[in-house]
Amino acid sequence: MTTQQLTIEPASEHVGAFVSGIDLAQAAAPGGLGPETTAVIKDAWAKHGVLFFREQPITPEQHMAFAEHFAAIDINKFFAAVDGFPGIAQVLKEKDQEHNIGGGWHTDHTYDAVPARGSILLARETPATGGDTHFLSVGAAYDALTEDLKATIATLEAHHSSEHVFGAKAEHAKEIGDRFGNADAVGGTTHPLVIKHPETGRKMLYVNAAFVTGIVGWSDDESTDLLNQLYRHIVNGGFDYRFEWEVGSIAMWDNCATWHMAYNDYPGQRRLMHRITVEGVALDAAA
Ligand code: OGA
Ligand code: MN
Repeated sequence: MTTQQLTIEPASEHVGAFVSGIDLAQAAAPGGLGPETTAVIKDAWAKHGVLFFREQPITPEQHMAFAEHFAAIDINKFFAAVDGFPGIAQVLKEKDQEHNIGGGWHTDHTYDAVPARGSILLARETPATGGDTHFLSVGAAYDALTEDLKATIATLEAHHSSEHVFGAKAEHAKEIGDRFGNADAVGGTTHPLVIKHPETGRKMLYVNAAFVTGIVGWSDDESTDLLNQLYRHIVNGGFDYRFEWEVGSIAMWDNCATWHMAYNDYPGQRRLMHRITVEGVALDAAA
């Protein structure tokens, strides 16, 4: 596999790119994808926020080997794993289940002190229609803020928690049933509202409605007002791209650079995805 065969085409103005001319099964072959191809993918991942690959019917072993080209596996504490593969989380909605996983805008694992770098999601079973995943760029969202708002948030930090989502009392966890577990592993941390991307240095708005519980040192009301203002800006600014899956499609997203959400618009149909998440590095404030 030479890098010359690789093609990278942007999916939209602000986020996402399609990568073609690569067979990810080679990740598990001796020598793997090789350092050049790996570097090209890594750069494109940081630049575009999410990479899409089509027609990659790879095995769980090959999926693991591909992920390990980028960082060590960060095992999700709450999702059920794929049988025989503790490093692969199962993102499943059965025909008769009502609630999906990841149905609101979010960034994965921001409740961890060192959040995962990103996730590599592979479609195993897709509904006949629906079940898209929407992505957006929090770098483009930051850039488009007013200078006043940039100044207001420059040195702020937010509390992030997993308790209200995955904890024993969380309604969401009850609805999701045995697709989530390990409620005792919940916890939280704080992160700057604006981080510096670990690879590109680009400023990123690092708050998300799923896991942020408030701004450090602010009252609930003040905090909710500012966060809602930021969330409206992030989702309504045209920084997004909606991806339609086929079996064997892969989306590989950067948790520092994007938000994502899964549409729950396929009642009565099954959807099964395999997710591998890779470890991140300590986040630096942009200020
Ligand atoms: C996830 C997630 C989205 C989807 O796996 O982290 O949010 O479309 N999934 O399944
Ligand atoms: Mn997610």
